[in-house]
Amino acid sequence: MKIAIDGPAGAGKSTLARELAKIMGFIYIDTGAMYRAITWKVIRENIDIDNETAVRDLAEKTRIHFEINSQTQKIICDHEDITSVIRSPQVGDLVSRVALFPLVREILVKQQQEMARNNSVVMDGRDIGEIVLPDADFKFFLTAEIEERARRRTEEFNQAGYSVTADSIRDDLNRRDKSDYQRPVGALKVLEDSIIIDTTDLTVAEVLKRMLAIIRGE
Ligand code: DC
Repeated sequence: MKIAIDGPAGAGKSTLARELAKIMGFIYIDTGAMYRAITWKVIRENIDIDNETAVRDLAEKTRIHFEINSQTQKIICDHEDITSVIRSPQVGDLVSRVALFPLVREILVKQQQEMARNNSVVMDGRDIGEIVLPDADFKFFLTAEIEERARRRTEEFNQAGYSVTADSIRDDLNRRDKSDYQRPVGALKVLEDSIIIDTTDLTVAEVLKRMLAIIRGE
């Protein structure tokens, strides 16, 4: 079974995808982490972030995989555990520029499809229902109001030890939304077969319950 979860940043996708995968016994594939991994490497190797070919070449030679055990999931990039470093505000600031490049998307989409080929998966991102898994059994579109998304992101950053303000996070989300919805390739959109859930006033448990009911046909 393939479950696609798309939506803007801070809508609750990764939390829900992880929980859902745990309950269903599926593999969780966090595609945003893959764009972040390439961005992190662009920064570390001092690659010109505006040079699409250079970033594509970097993506091509980068090996990304997810290491899963019962409690945690790590993202490994060329044998290095980059699970926390890809969540830094610096990577967050630059990742939408990397995600804009069609040549980079092409490489990552292929890798994502390969990861899903022989597995039941829950995959979250922006273009999963349309491009990566067009035949997904369920296509959820999670969304939430901008203020609530900014509140959640600020809390996440603060818990991770980064000091950020809600205002700066809201500005960043607005900028990211614009790029996610408007890029020419792999844009975020509600599809004809999307199941839309607005998570603004719902707890994680409530959203999870709704998703499970839909999947189980209750
Ligand atoms: O979900 P996230 O915030 O970790 O995603 C990081 C960035 O990657 C975000 O700017 C959108 C982009 N992205 C994308 O373009 N396509 C995906 N399938 C997943 C994420």
